[in-house]
Amino acid sequence: MYVWVNDQLIRRDKAVVDMEDRGYQFGDGVYEVVRMYNGAFFMLPEHLERLQNSLKEIGISYDVKEQRVAEKLKEIMKKNDVTDGAVYMQITRGAAPRNHSFPDQPNPVFTAYPIPVKRPVEAQENGVQMTLVEDMRWLRCDIKSLNLLWNAMAKQKAKEKGCFESLFYRNENHITEGSSSNFFGVKNGVIYTHPANPYILNGITRRAVLNICQENQFPYEEKVLTLNDVKQLDEAFITSTTAEVMPITAIDDITVGNGEPGPVTRKLQKLFFERT
Ligand SMILES: Cc1ncc(COP(=O)(O)O)c(C=O)c1O
Repeated sequence: MYVWVNDQLIRRDKAVVDMEDRGYQFGDGVYEVVRMYNGAFFMLPEHLERLQNSLKEIGISYDVKEQRVAEKLKEIMKKNDVTDGAVYMQITRGAAPRNHSFPDQPNPVFTAYPIPVKRPVEAQENGVQMTLVEDMRWLRCDIKSLNLLWNAMAKQKAKEKGCFESLFYRNENHITEGSSSNFFGVKNGVIYTHPANPYILNGITRRAVLNICQENQFPYEEKVLTLNDVKQLDEAFITSTTAEVMPITAIDDITVGNGEPGPVTRKLQKLFFERT
């Protein structure tokens, strides 16, 4: 496999990360994952805009346009002969003698390479289960940073319980999002999801789904659901670049609706597929 390290397109076994790269030592960096369908990236401008915003929020000076990131992503997929899958990219503040405060003259490091992703057809058809986990992350979840320790721990808890994903709650009973996905609930035909604020990552798939709701006049509201609301839902689903629109049939011992993917979720799945 070939990978990008800054402006070098090299074989993966030739790629080297400095031991003092701040991404490696402090999680001091940001990332994105973009899906490719039939040789075309899905919502690439939106991903790159979010990347630029994450960079700005943590004060890494790196111009995504000037650095030709879009072109580089296309090139890396071509070089590796990938037409269906995803690309992973990250930008760290680069290497510097270990010190918490930022180096005076940082040299950001860009890396990118394709990752294999297949549409999880069976799970999308049958639905999956979630488990509740307290949201112990910091309060800037809107930044897509490399600090994924609690997300990783939560996903592991889900895996150990045989669940597909964990569902975060904060402040005793406020549902925020999944460990790597956004959460939606449906009640009496209205689609609910957490507002885009620092408590969640404003997912690109989340935005696509809300846009589909707008275009099709499906009633929706960006509102915080409580644990109690979740017990009353007719339907639930999560969204992410790799899971797309994934029905949720149970959350721990709460059965969602009748325990099967519901009609609103099915409609959104179909309309989402048509866009990809
Ligand atoms: C915490 C979190 N929320 C939501 C999402 C979904 O975002 P997207 O639809 O852009 O993949 C992700 C994706 O990895 C995530 O890590």
